Amino acid sequence: MARTVKIFDTTLRDGEQAPRCSMNLQEKVEVARQLERLGVDVIEAGFPAASPGDLAAVRAVAEVVKASTVAALCRASRGDIDAGLEALANAARPRIHTFIATSPIHMEFKLKMTPDEVLARAVDAVSYARERCPEVEFSAEDAFRSDPDFVCKVFGAVIAAGATVLNIPDTVGYALPGEFGPFVAYIKAHTPGIEKAAISVHCHNDLGLAVANTIAAVQAGADQIECTINGLGERAGNASLEELAMILTTRREELGVECGIVTPQIYATSRLVSKVTGVRVQPNKAIVGENAFAHEAGIHQHGVLANRATYEIMTPESVGFPSNRMVLGKHSGKHAFEERLKDLGFEPAGLAIDELFARFKVLADKKKTVSDRDIEALVVGSTKSHPDTWTLDRWVINSGSSLSSTCTIKLKNKSGEFREEVAVGDGPIDAAFSAIDRLIGKNLDLDSFELGAVTGGEDAQGEATVKVSMEGQQWNGRGLSTDIVEASILAYIAAINSMEWELSAMRGHLSADAAARAAATKEGAGV
Ligand code: KIV
Ligand code: ZN
Repeated sequence: MARTVKIFDTTLRDGEQAPRCSMNLQEKVEVARQLERLGVDVIEAGFPAASPGDLAAVRAVAEVVKASTVAALCRASRGDIDAGLEALANAARPRIHTFIATSPIHMEFKLKMTPDEVLARAVDAVSYARERCPEVEFSAEDAFRSDPDFVCKVFGAVIAAGATVLNIPDTVGYALPGEFGPFVAYIKAHTPGIEKAAISVHCHNDLGLAVANTIAAVQAGADQIECTINGLGERAGNASLEELAMILTTRREELGVECGIVTPQIYATSRLVSKVTGVRVQPNKAIVGENAFAHEAGIHQHGVLANRATYEIMTPESVGFPSNRMVLGKHSGKHAFEERLKDLGFEPAGLAIDELFARFKVLADKKKTVSDRDIEALVVGSTKSHPDTWTLDRWVINSGSSLSSTCTIKLKNKSGEFREEVAVGDGPIDAAFSAIDRLIGKNLDLDSFELGAVTGGEDAQGEATVKVSMEGQQWNGRGLSTDIVEASILAYIAAINSMEWELSAMRGHLSADAAARAAATKEGAGV
C-alpha cells in the first residue's frame, strides 16, 4: 500500500514574500478557501509578526479554514510566537512554525550567534510554543548548508522540547537531487527520537531543482513536502505544488507514495493565484502553462488523434485544464452554464451566479464562439473579494499619431454619485489612467502593465493586468473586455478598489496595540 505524503502549501507566506506577489486580506482568504478545496493538508497563512496586515490575514484565514491545518510562521522568539498564537486563536487546527538558521554562514553573519546559542534559542522557542499549541513545526533554516550532525543535534533537542514536525529547508536552492535525498536519509537515521516527529522538506528553485530535490527527499522518506502554487516564492521560487502533485499521481506506482490533492482543482487554483498576484504563468510551465497540453506539430497532432497516450502522459481533464472547444453560446441556459463551471473546477457556491451568467450572455452576444477559456477568464475576473468603491460608467478617448491623447472618463462611487474628469496623456492608456488619478484625487505609480488575449481570433477578449503602488504598498488589478482599452481601464479601477478597500480595512480593524507591536518587530522580519 502506498504511503501518504502531506502537502504543506506556503503560497500565502513564502509565495507572497516574493517581489510583486503581495495579496490583500480578502485575496488571501479567497486563496485559502481554494487551497482547502484543493485538498492541501497544511496552509501556511503568513508571518504574523511581520506586520499588522499579516497578523490580520492569518487570523482571517484561520477563522474560515476548517479542514486544513493553518500554520503561522514565527522566528524563534517568544514575541513572534505570541503574535502567531494570537493570529491562530480561532483556528480549528493550528500549527506554530518556528525557525532559526543552523548553517555556519547564517549563524556567524546574520544571527551573530554561536551554535550553542542557536540550540538554546530553538529549544526555548519550541517548548514555549508547544505549551500553547498542539502542533509545532521547527525549521533549521539553510539546513542543507549546515553541518548534518549539528542539524541532528538541534532536531533531537527540539523533539524532546515537543516539536511535532522537523523541516529541512534547502533555503538557497543549492542541493543536487543526488545529494539532497541522502542528506534527508542521514538526518532521519541520526536524529535521536525521530520516530516521534514527521520529517518535512522545503526546497527553493535557484538552480531549477526544487521539484527534483523534493521528490528525492520523498524517496528518502520525507513525510511532508512544502511547496507553492505556480512555484511562487523568494527569488526563483519554491517547489511547485502542481508539479509535485502530478508527479506523485502519474508515477504513483514507481514512487509508492500518494497525496490528498484533488487534482482537477489544480488549474482553477493556479489561475486564482495568478489573478490575485498579477503574476502570469509562463506558457511552457509544466501542468498549468498555456501550452502544457497543446500539440502544435503535425506529427504530434496525428499521434494524439490516433491515441492520446502517444504524446500525453496525463490528461488535461485530470488537472482541470480547460479545453478550447466551443461549449456554450448565446442560446445556452443557466443550468448548462453552471454545469460547465463545475466541470472546470469552479465552485459556483459563493459566486454571484446570476451576475456571472448575465456577463456570459453579454459576452456570447459579442463573440462568435465562447470557449472554456473565455468562461474561465470570466469567472476568475468576477470573483469579488471586496466591495467596489468605484465602478466604470463610461469613457471616451481621442487618440491618433499627431495629437496628444485625451480621455474623458465617468465613474460612479459607492454612494451612487457620478464624477467625470478629463486628462491628456502620452497615448490612450496614459490619458485614461491620468484621468482616473485626477478623479479619485490620488497620484498612483504604475509599476507594471500587461496586456494579453484570452484566446486567439479577431474577436478575442483582451485581458489587462496592472500593479499600482502608493507609499510603498502595492495593489493588483485585472480587467477583461473585448476592447483592450476598456480592459486596461477596468484593471486600473480594480487595483484602485483593492487599494481603497485595504486602506479602509486597515484603518478600521487594526488596534493601536497590534500596530505598536508590529512596528517594534517589523525590522528584520523578512525571511
Ligand atoms: O526557505 C526557508 O528556509 C524558509 C524557512 C522559514 C522554512 O522559508
Ligand atoms: Zn523558503
